[in-house]
Amino acid sequence: MAKSSQPRFRQAAIHAGEDEAERAHGLSPDIVMASSFEVAPGIGFSATEMDAETPYFYTRWANPTVRQLERKVAALDGGEDAVCFGSGMAAISHLWLSRLSAGDRLVLSNVCYAGAAELAHDTLPRFGIEVVTVDTGDAGAVAAALTPNTRLVHVETPANPILRLTDIAAVAGLAHAAGAELVVDSTIATPVATRPLELGADYVVHSLTKYACGHGGDALGGAVIGNREAMQRLRQDALIHMGGTLSPFHAWLILRSLHTLDMRMYAHERTALALAEALEGHPKVARVLYPGLASHPQHALALRQMECFSGMVSVVVRVDPAALAERIYSGCSVFSYAVSLGKSKSLAVHIPTEDLLRTSFRLTGADADAYRDWAGDGVFRLSVGLEPADLVIADFVAALDAV
Ligand SMILES: Cc1ncc(COP(=O)(O)O)c(C=O)c1O
Repeated sequence: MAKSSQPRFRQAAIHAGEDEAERAHGLSPDIVMASSFEVAPGIGFSATEMDAETPYFYTRWANPTVRQLERKVAALDGGEDAVCFGSGMAAISHLWLSRLSAGDRLVLSNVCYAGAAELAHDTLPRFGIEVVTVDTGDAGAVAAALTPNTRLVHVETPANPILRLTDIAAVAGLAHAAGAELVVDSTIATPVATRPLELGADYVVHSLTKYACGHGGDALGGAVIGNREAMQRLRQDALIHMGGTLSPFHAWLILRSLHTLDMRMYAHERTALALAEALEGHPKVARVLYPGLASHPQHALALRQMECFSGMVSVVVRVDPAALAERIYSGCSVFSYAVSLGKSKSLAVHIPTEDLLRTSFRLTGADADAYRDWAGDGVFRLSVGLEPADLVIADFVAALDAV
């Protein structure tokens, strides 16, 4: 797989996946907004009868526009194939439910997207699946959590919202030695920064809603990337029966957005680094977390594992967070006060530590203290957009100075 800084990556971003024989040869991908297709009599109705040769016959199984996206995201991450879903959470839930059974253990990073943490804590145990959360940035903690019944290890790197990293190669080695598989949610990194399959992961998960669909953030989507056999099994086991299908229209929006992924990621990175450096010296800022800063606790790992540091910056402030949030909401012209990330527009949201620990992560004791060491009372999670860097910095600094 080409490095994202090399021309072959951009060639794949623009051309991979889109050269199917059935295309009408427009210069943009065709959108096939059909839920079913005309087929020769005799086609089976069961997912168990499906294979890679099965023609398109129903979009919950497969769709030509969605398949173009699946081939493109697989190419960018260096995987054999991919399955796309209607959202990032659909990708995670379908993968977990297809791989985990009663009696299995899931080892999960204790800092990750809140939706994934809540699914693990609230839903999986109802099916007899044991969930253990650990700081996956600490290889010793991962090793201690691995048991003979551990089926999956799921990490997010960088992890939402404090941008903590996991050493993918080290954790893949540990997981495999214990007979488990490694899932890496690489939404924040994107394949421009990190390609986890090359480092030993078994599955890569993306919320395509974020940087992948970064032009304006107009579509939701998700993807799982892995080897051909695993992806065929995931399609049969999960997509067909649980039905979290991606709309062909959203697949088409994401396909066009991926053409510019690497250029956008490096532009996000340039501005994020400039903002992080500017905020590090600001008297009203207690801490800036950005993998590209030498002060990030895992900067050495970031240099090893990330070709681009992405566009997320988390900031702990010395001012009243509620007042700053209100000032961003009512007074900023570049930043919008909003959740999500990876858009062309800059977004900011406050994530209070105690709320997050109680409602989503359920951390107590030393694990909670370790989170507080990074996040203080809470972080402002900034998704740095594509606006000019000087305007981004001036807008956020003006908000800080006003409170
Ligand atoms: C790292 C990460 N993974 C998964 C998701 C879920 O993605 P979606 O909102 O597309 O379901 C999010 C959403 O914020 C996320 O930040």
